[in-house]
Amino acid sequence: MSPFQLTRTLAEDAMEAALRADVRHGLTRTPKELPPKWFYDARGSELFDEITRLPEYYPTRAEREILIARAPEIAAATGARTLVELGSGSSEKTRHLIDALLPGLEVYVPVDVSESALRGAGEALVAERPGLRVHALLSDFTQGIELPETAGPRLVAFLGGTIGNLLPAERREFLRGVRGVLAPGDSLLLGTDLVKVEATLVAAYDDAAGVTAAFNKNVLAVVDRELGADANPDDFDHVARWDRENEWIEMRLRARQALTVKIPELDLLVPFEAGEELRTEVSAKFRQDGVRDELADAGFSLACWWTDTAGRFALSLAAVG
Ligand code: AVJ
Repeated sequence: MSPFQLTRTLAEDAMEAALRADVRHGLTRTPKELPPKWFYDARGSELFDEITRLPEYYPTRAEREILIARAPEIAAATGARTLVELGSGSSEKTRHLIDALLPGLEVYVPVDVSESALRGAGEALVAERPGLRVHALLSDFTQGIELPETAGPRLVAFLGGTIGNLLPAERREFLRGVRGVLAPGDSLLLGTDLVKVEATLVAAYDDAAGVTAAFNKNVLAVVDRELGADANPDDFDHVARWDRENEWIEMRLRARQALTVKIPELDLLVPFEAGEELRTEVSAKFRQDGVRDELADAGFSLACWWTDTAGRFALSLAAVG
């Protein structure tokens, strides 16, 4: 059996159906909104990788610093034989964790909506690490989690601060779902970006080179390609705003003038007023107390809380129970 295996946990056309439903729902409501998962086609995944290397975008470097420093402690505390990674993307930072967990680690289960990212990362990993199995899941973990039968203890990693893309009620449901597929002795490793001064946060989502703007506008390219729409990225401005009350960053696309987007495959006309904004992402920022409470609510207890030396980002290790 090949050490790399990919399972689609969605029906062949389920992604397409989900996109159609999200676009119809999100563009006919007020205010307009699209979920961030639609950024990540092959081009969007590339742009995100570029974001992670920008001088303004500190979360990836901060989290990598913590992972490198703490991987041996994580390995010792969890003894994981299965590592599941939700929203694995390029699996770039995860290598540090995998190497610390080997040789006890039997299988790495990356879960992502991007088939190109799963294949690229998975095939490279098995080529570099003989003895490691990779069982990739092409799946939308926000729609529920189903894991293959693999050896325990299991460690579920949800890195990068991606949990911040969920609204509080969605986080609650999501964390309870993760708890539901785990057993006593299993663990959760959670990456969360932290609340900090506004200028640092806004710069991270509105970089000088315009890569985040291109990433934001890529969702329009996805809708154009998949649903035959005629949205022109040049008709929109990239907006990144700190919501101080909710403690989250919002990304929006703002129409430069009044315009109408045609979406033939949905038989839909979407009018925008001049200056009207479409929300494309929420990226929540956290504090230790909030993370501890949200974990406890889902049936986890916070065992370790680590930050980078600059205190920008946190990794939490949580135990079931
Ligand atoms: C991949 C969700 C963690 O919210 O910081 C980066 C995505 N959006 N720049 C984040 C993102 C704009 C990123 N996450």
